Amino acid sequence: MVASFRKRLLLVHLAVILAIVACTALAGYWGLSRAVHGQLDAALLALAETEMAMLPAAPRQPVQVHEVAPGLAPPSLTRLDRLVQIIDGEGRVLARSRNLEAAQLPASAALLARLAAGETVFETLPKFGEEPLRMISIPVPSSGSRLAVQVAGSLDDTNHVLAAATVLFGAMALALLAAVGLAGEMLTRRVLGAIDDVVDQAHSIGEASLHQRLPHPGTQDEIGRLVDTLNAMLDRLEHGYDAQRRFTADASHELRSPLSRLRTEIEITLRRPRESPEYVDALASCLDEVQRLTTLVEELLMLTRLDVGQERNAVETIELNPLVRAAAQRLEKPAAQRGIRIVFDDSVAVHARVAAGPVDLVLANLLDNAVKFSPPGTSISVHVARDGAHAIVGVADAGPGIGVEDLPHLFERFYRGAQARAGEAPGFGLGLALSQAIVHAYGGSIEARNRPQGGALFLMRLPALD
Ligand SMILES: Nc1ncnc2c1ncn2[C@@H]1O[C@H](COP(=O)(O)OP(=O)(O)O)[C@@H](O)[C@H]1O
Ligand SMILES: [Mg+2]
Repeated sequence: MVASFRKRLLLVHLAVILAIVACTALAGYWGLSRAVHGQLDAALLALAETEMAMLPAAPRQPVQVHEVAPGLAPPSLTRLDRLVQIIDGEGRVLARSRNLEAAQLPASAALLARLAAGETVFETLPKFGEEPLRMISIPVPSSGSRLAVQVAGSLDDTNHVLAAATVLFGAMALALLAAVGLAGEMLTRRVLGAIDDVVDQAHSIGEASLHQRLPHPGTQDEIGRLVDTLNAMLDRLEHGYDAQRRFTADASHELRSPLSRLRTEIEITLRRPRESPEYVDALASCLDEVQRLTTLVEELLMLTRLDVGQERNAVETIELNPLVRAAAQRLEKPAAQRGIRIVFDDSVAVHARVAAGPVDLVLANLLDNAVKFSPPGTSISVHVARDGAHAIVGVADAGPGIGVEDLPHLFERFYRGAQARAGEAPGFGLGLALSQAIVHAYGGSIEARNRPQGGALFLMRLPALD
């Protein structure tokens, strides 16, 4: 897949370069050809005009081509290799340069007609003598017998220059193409090679090797950023996977303990025949254990459903005050048994956009913790208030507060503080994790802090009614 992409990239690259080089070479060749031809034409025209200027003004004087007599004057470079001929209106040759020997420059009927029309004519004669010629024919103005001067020069040098230029341009084009193609191949190999490395490594990363990371090319270009992004994603996946693994291990552990207690209880009871009250005691103890197990399994189930987004009841506008009061009333009896009072501060009616059932569960968890961790004889204060776009429910107690080392982990699954673990307080450490998951699912938040006067304060924020 990558190899074919590389080939395609290279082919496109080469095709574009080929087109650019071909266009540049053609344009260069065309420009050069025009320049050398133009130069020759200008030289021929200059000589023809010189010749024309030297023609006798009087009509009856003999017409002749002006050549430098051999050996008398310095060599004339302008005349070098130039064939000169003077013709009349019918194409009869009146005079011609010596180097023409017996030959004549051609004067076709078409040429004579154009000359008669006063036109200066440039022609290329490919097959005149041994070499191709370029010829100018220029009519002599105000000459009675419509004379015309013809000057021709060899195209051989011009053609040689152009042939050499063709070879040079061709060689340059090939060299350029090879160099650019090679550079392109090296570049794509480097760039796509880095992607190949990433793909190979990505193939080898599995469940058991989520700690591995993709190789970084060492640059902060697109590939570098892609690798950074993928590695950050692997970080998150590894973190989530670890949490999931820990959760499963903790859940299994928590399920095993009550089950083995249940099993022991039943085994001991069954060892010998017993009196009825003993069976009742044993069964009551077993029922307690089953009750704990049921709570645990329900909490686990609820957490799992929240994780996969299934547990989301329809949002409604509810008045929080009666909901909080009802939740507190349910705990009044166990609280009173330990001499704990629950005090309300809910003078303002506050409405929130949530589902009543799950929020009730959060309130039960917070109040249960408050009662559980409060020393006898103290009071728990519950307040309901409004803060901007949020409805707030606060539960404060006068208990030991939260340990500094516990504070960052309080909402983790199965996390129980040092005091909770050491003490008699029942629980699995799932209450706050579950409460947080519920509150987040409804767009709210929950936080824990210690009160300055001692004790813990839990604040739940929920989206209020606009
Ligand atoms: N009101 C509170 N006062 C002091 N510590 C608390 C309070 N509420 C919760 N905690 C701490 O947070 C931990 C987690 O609470 P939670 O998730 O409800 O589990 P559990 O109640 O089963 O221990 C508790 O074990 C405890 O250490
Ligand atoms: Mg709890």
